Amino acid sequence: MSPMSGPSDQGMAVRQKMGDANLGRDVFRFETFGNEGFWTDAVRLPAGIKQAKVTPLQALELGVQIDSDMLDASIKAELASDLRADPTGRTSKLLNDPEATGKIIMAGAVIGMSPKNGKVGTSCALCHTMSDASVFKVPQGGSIGHRLDGKANHELNLGKIFATAANTRALYTGAQLQLAANKGKTLGRAPHGLTANSTEAEFDAYFSNPRYYPIGMFDDTFDGNGDPMHNTPLFRQDLAGPYGSEGLVTKIDDFSNLVFTTLFDPTMLTTPGGRAFVHKLAGAAGDEIIDSYVKILADTGVTGYPYVRPQAREMGKPGDLATPIGFRVDERKLIAMNAYLSGLQAPAGMSEDRQAILRGREAFRTVGCTGCHNLDQGRPVPATIHPMATIFPGDKPMVLAEREPPLNPVLDTESSFFDDKMAVVNASLRGEKRGVAMPLLLDLARKPSYLHDDSVKSLDELLSLSRGNLAPHPFFLKDAAPRADMIAYLRSLDTNSH
Ligand code: HEC
Ligand code: HEC
Repeated sequence: MSPMSGPSDQGMAVRQKMGDANLGRDVFRFETFGNEGFWTDAVRLPAGIKQAKVTPLQALELGVQIDSDMLDASIKAELASDLRADPTGRTSKLLNDPEATGKIIMAGAVIGMSPKNGKVGTSCALCHTMSDASVFKVPQGGSIGHRLDGKANHELNLGKIFATAANTRALYTGAQLQLAANKGKTLGRAPHGLTANSTEAEFDAYFSNPRYYPIGMFDDTFDGNGDPMHNTPLFRQDLAGPYGSEGLVTKIDDFSNLVFTTLFDPTMLTTPGGRAFVHKLAGAAGDEIIDSYVKILADTGVTGYPYVRPQAREMGKPGDLATPIGFRVDERKLIAMNAYLSGLQAPAGMSEDRQAILRGREAFRTVGCTGCHNLDQGRPVPATIHPMATIFPGDKPMVLAEREPPLNPVLDTESSFFDDKMAVVNASLRGEKRGVAMPLLLDLARKPSYLHDDSVKSLDELLSLSRGNLAPHPFFLKDAAPRADMIAYLRSLDTNSH
């Protein structure tokens, strides 16, 4: 045995692994790589919260989660005494005090809002963590308690939160746009798109309208389309790839890097690499998006951007999945977070009626669900991208723009939102199809709606023939009793269901 591989070295390897486990957790919960500049100085979210005198109770009503372990002792004691007197929180002095909102944010207790040097940035936890509500819960809203990382926040009203910001126009790249290059055609849920000249009030009206920007959804593409997608669970990400409903990204660290270098600070898109990527995806429309964005930033007095650039390394080729805009943040932190996201365990499924679950499981096998979905949710989901025509037989796309191969043309089916996400950003960038990737079937009982576009409101509706054979995901059980069994089965799923 060489002296280099003795037991003490093993101990060191274990300690290093433990260190990296904590690092991965902290990156997930708190890391911003400098995006606090964007959220505080460009979007001016803290200023907007202050101006609107948002109380902690109102923040909770928008679905915000509060980590009770990050509250200081005096706030915790005051809250406990308020809630003893009135468990609804309605008469709580603290929960109705707008001054307290800023204090709670600056204490780092608002999950996913990460205070750094007097500013406030955004971390992954904003959408992918819930509290256990052990202290307080608002019906259909947020809660106060210990963190439960990985649970999708289905109640988060991001649109309303964005509209509260003092300079919502800085979120132009994530809005539904009206572009000259698209000859006025706009894709999304609103009748009209926003332009470089739209006012702050018009931006607020778009983002705060849940019909345009639904609760629990986030528009994670800078493609000019209004295509928010429903939030996904983030358990066992080692099983989940390819990532995103369109399945573009095959590695978690590439997905995280994309979020950190573009979504958490879209001013990064104004760099040459950012421009190259948006141009590659959307051609002339992409150029117009970035030019208009630069104009908005100038018009609204935003300077000193891009904010994440000093903490990202310029490397790689724009368009490559590892460096979509030619930047990558700290590799060690990305890899540490991979391990954390792979280790997050899904909650146990609901074991309501054992016999119904067994009958549902049998039907899942025999009616063809396992042609696509695993029976065992503890195995990696199949990497197949299901082409739009299979997963949505009503797809009748029009060509909106031609693109350089391997990218497919920009396509849209007018009658549906289901394909909007895949119009510009889809797996064809890596030589795959325009289609939909397989989701994890985990924590389904807690979902308020189904499919990435939120088009189905219950599992019963998802599986009901009444949606019609041309609908998205047209796999039905005609009769109510087998459907109820299937629902019991789906609600029971966790990574230990075989
Ligand atoms: C503002 C809300 C929000 C934030 C913050 C956020 N995400 Fe997400 N995330 C989403 C939504 C919505 C989806 C679903 C996207 C889709 O369907 O294509 C998603 C999907 C994912 C997926 C794909 C999961 C799958 O099963 O395919 C991964 C991985 C992921 N997020 C990781 C992260 C990481 C890592 C961060 C931080 C760097 C982060 N997210 C920050 C909202 C968010
Ligand atoms: C052709 C492949 C295919 C078949 C067959 C199929 N599914 Fe799916 N399923 C998918 C894809 C892809 C998605 C993701 C759709 C989306 O997010 O828009 C999905 C989504 C789901 C979801 C929603 C998950 C969520 O979080 O919203 C459930 C539940 C589901 N499938 C159950 C079933 C059942 C039950 C059957 C059989 C009756 C079935 N599936 C048959 C491919 C398939």
